[in-house]
Amino acid sequence: MKGTECRVRFSTPSDLTKTWPENTFCIVDQNLARLHGHALGDLPVNVIPAGEESKTWDAAGGVVRWLAEAGADRKASVAAFGGGVIGDLAGFAAASYMRGVSLIQVPTTLLAMVDSAIGGKTGVDLPEGKNLAGAFWPAKEITVVPKLLKTLPKREWLNGSAEIWKYGAILDAELFAELEKHPISQDIDQTEPIIRRCIELKAQTVEADEFETTGLRAILNFGHTIGHAIEWAQNYKGLAHGEAVSVGMILEAELGEQIGTTEKGTASRIRLAMAHQGLPTRLPDGLEAKNLISAMRRDKKAESGRLAFSLLDRIGACKLVKDVPEDEVLAVLNGS
Ligand SMILES: NC(=O)c1ccc[n+]([C@@H]2O[C@H](COP(=O)([O-])OP(=O)(O)OC[C@H]3O[C@@H](n4cnc5c(N)ncnc54)[C@H](O)[C@@H]3O)[C@@H](O)[C@H]2O)c1
Ligand SMILES: [Zn+2]
Repeated sequence: MKGTECRVRFSTPSDLTKTWPENTFCIVDQNLARLHGHALGDLPVNVIPAGEESKTWDAAGGVVRWLAEAGADRKASVAAFGGGVIGDLAGFAAASYMRGVSLIQVPTTLLAMVDSAIGGKTGVDLPEGKNLAGAFWPAKEITVVPKLLKTLPKREWLNGSAEIWKYGAILDAELFAELEKHPISQDIDQTEPIIRRCIELKAQTVEADEFETTGLRAILNFGHTIGHAIEWAQNYKGLAHGEAVSVGMILEAELGEQIGTTEKGTASRIRLAMAHQGLPTRLPDGLEAKNLISAMRRDKKAESGRLAFSLLDRIGACKLVKDVPEDEVLAVLNGS
């Protein structure tokens, strides 16, 4: 990344902390503390309850106060050891403590390895909405330890797999075709090269638009306009993020075909791929199309309430399309 030097280091559990400064303070997901805490040696550790409920303003304040109590100075580093929740929370705390201390991201879910740990976005949820407070605070190092995935539950593998398919769909037709032959399985050796590829793809995209000002980064949002609306409409208690993105990618490809942006046949190819991966392919029952549209109007890509989508030209190429007519979106949602 341009603004800051960020190193990606692949490691084994026993070498996890090898390159970290001595004064590193670890913010650790409760499950990781139990399963892999020993890899952190004697470093000071603050254990955070697992789950999105921990990604709050109060929890970030708690982390900042813990850093102060534990004696962290401005040369200290914060290591975020967990999935995207810990990465976002500890990253936000690192961005604010003493106006910013160094951050090491140690992503432990597939989603965090290929997505949330890269790109410098940190933040917390507010009662008014998800990710409403945050900062751009890129990590100095991202330490990726694929072996930690050994204990990752199956649903979390699936969650991350949707983002991997997304990279293929928006940027890498070869990766997409490879996944069509071999969907993501819980095989770490098979998945490691794919993780490396996705990190590269995300880093390149972020580099082209580090602070989300040119719109180039928006392609990472493919499948997410509808995906986020589904998650919101289900109060974040229904489909998991990757599952909602799976449905979102299919419907946004249908939308693209309908308005003439996306090559015909792309949506059915993605639908088949998602089914093959074991991800959902249809809107969950009981969701009102109008309700979903009102969530999409609040999407950050929308301007003055006019809907915008990241749509495929074809598998491997994506662009931001503004001013998509609402009745076209309604037609796709009602047809699903
Ligand atoms: N900053 C960004 O750019 C960005 C991008 C995408 C998502 N996010 C955020 O990421 C969060 C979701 O992240 P997530 O999907 O990693 O969820 P998560 O952090 O909640 O982790 C999911 C579950 O897996 C468990 N877990 C993690 N690693 C494990 C391991 N190795 N073995 C066993 N269990 C393990 C956790 O304890 C948790 O229960 C959301 O808050 C989302 O907003 C941020
Ligand atoms: Zn996502």
